[in-house]
Amino acid sequence: MCGIVGYVGAKPAEAVVIEGLRRLEYRGYDSAGIALVDGGAIVSDKRAGKLANLEKAIADSPLPQVTTGIGHTRWATHGPPTDRNAHPHLGRARRVALVHNGIIENFAELRGRLESEGVEMASDTDTEVAAHLLEEQLETGVDLTVAMQNVCRGLEGAFTLVAVDSQDPDRVVAARRNSPLVVGIGEGENFLGSDVAAFIEHTREAMELDQDQVVTITREGVSVSGFDGTPAEGRRYHVDWDLSAAEKDGHDWFMRKEIFEQPRALADSLLGRRGTDGLLQLDEMRLSDQDLRDIDKIIIIAAGTSFYAGMVAKYAIEHWCRIPVEVELASEFRYRDPILTASTLVVAISQSGETADTLQAIRHARVQRSKVLAICNTNGSTIPRESDGVIYTHAGPEIGVASTKGFLTQLVACYLLALYLAQVKGTRFGDEISQVMDQLEEMPGHVETVLAKAEEVYALARDHVDNRSVLFLGRHAGYPVALEGALKLKEIAYLHAEGFAAGELKHGPIALVEEGLPILCVVPPRGRDQLHDKMISGIQEVRARGARTLCLAEEGDTTITPYADVLITLPQVPVLLQPIVAVVPLQLFACELATQLGHDVDQPRNLAKSVTVE
Ligand code: AGP
Repeated sequence: MCGIVGYVGAKPAEAVVIEGLRRLEYRGYDSAGIALVDGGAIVSDKRAGKLANLEKAIADSPLPQVTTGIGHTRWATHGPPTDRNAHPHLGRARRVALVHNGIIENFAELRGRLESEGVEMASDTDTEVAAHLLEEQLETGVDLTVAMQNVCRGLEGAFTLVAVDSQDPDRVVAARRNSPLVVGIGEGENFLGSDVAAFIEHTREAMELDQDQVVTITREGVSVSGFDGTPAEGRRYHVDWDLSAAEKDGHDWFMRKEIFEQPRALADSLLGRRGTDGLLQLDEMRLSDQDLRDIDKIIIIAAGTSFYAGMVAKYAIEHWCRIPVEVELASEFRYRDPILTASTLVVAISQSGETADTLQAIRHARVQRSKVLAICNTNGSTIPRESDGVIYTHAGPEIGVASTKGFLTQLVACYLLALYLAQVKGTRFGDEISQVMDQLEEMPGHVETVLAKAEEVYALARDHVDNRSVLFLGRHAGYPVALEGALKLKEIAYLHAEGFAAGELKHGPIALVEEGLPILCVVPPRGRDQLHDKMISGIQEVRARGARTLCLAEEGDTTITPYADVLITLPQVPVLLQPIVAVVPLQLFACELATQLGHDVDQPRNLAKSVTVE
């Protein structure tokens, strides 16, 4: 959840580290800190609150101009977000400074042992024990790399650790277990980061590491080893996006920029999927056609917005492929003893590729011999690395904590998977698959059409700044859209928002309806007569009880006009693909409402972009 940066090179480390933290602040933002190595001493500053607080403190009390440093933005797990709990943490002799992402599960036991030996703890964190243990190791005469290996062997839990030693100023050492860490490879300088955004303005050459590895960076190079000291190799790769993708580009929020990037992201995610023979090709699939033909059940696991993409996938896969699909919250999956066999395909959807719940769920599935396919936006992240196959979405970096283009591109990947399975299993004819692909390829244009009406949606959002509660209704593929619309509003506008399947209204939720309550209704296309008509009945029922109905319906659907207090039209698309266009106004609505309420849209309270702890 936290953001981590490490640097050694020729540039002023303070600037490199602070800039890196700025780009990682979306990962966690309740406190921030920096440590520099200055002529045999550690110089450190750390502050509760956003990075700006740390920057102000440094401006008031400047740090030395040195070239080795580490930094951290925190999302608190152990101890409240205060100055003393902010990272870096120092050993008692102030020889070591260390930052950490994750949870050290055996910290209480380690802390007890250290305290019994007279170490006084300066914080409430689990992290601080690692700083003391490292220092203990260094006092035995080993270097920081060996000290890190020795310490990590005794730690339990999930962690990325990055440390510096005041007596060894040209070396930064890091370790990872079940928590993200990438290396940036420069010329005469090297970097560490929770993700490549930390160093993208300096280098696009990166290296990913395996679990349980220690990496040492100096100006001259990078070396990798296991926790047992065995030399290892990281995998180098080129990052195919640049600094401009990590900037706001004139928008007030990353989220708004990312909403408007969706046509491009959709088009990129569809690129190169059709071969010259007209057949679908998913070249990162890595699962053979025979493996896929043997599949008799699919379980989709994911969290939050990715879970809602999975719900849409269920409708598409079951309809096009006739394979039963279960969709399960990753955090619940392992605890219900799911029935998994070698012919079960587990699909893990994760924008970040680092969500701890989803990662643990796929590990559980693989132990039961099921095949795992990841749908992921982050090259080199842990979930695709630990899966049997991967479909990468090509959304580019998503910085806003509230997922938008991540969701749309996940939908595309789900449709592609469904169509590919239909092709391999022969459950749809080639021309039917081709027709859906044509429709998918029209989606970027349709999303442009929806975005062109952003002002209309913004005006609607401004009309609702005084509402404390908003409901969302949908049916079929529109139901997950309703859930996603409600989640967006909860996350960034902090409003009570609930999504319901319209058919469930009468089973309870209709009791919530009172005079003036706004209800956003996702109306299915008319082609599905029953579905459409049932939705209209639901809308009539809530309107009769005083609700203000804000309806999203396809262009030309005049049947809805008498029942809509407000009508926002959507392009005409097939019912299964409608989530792609229907969710966009809901994203715009939440973004504008949160802006009007004066909230920090990109960094909403209590949340972090990538949830790397269970
Ligand atoms: C989306 O707006 C949320 N921030 C959150 O629900 C997110 O989708 C969830 O944590 C899963 O993340 P992942 O896709 O990176 O696994």
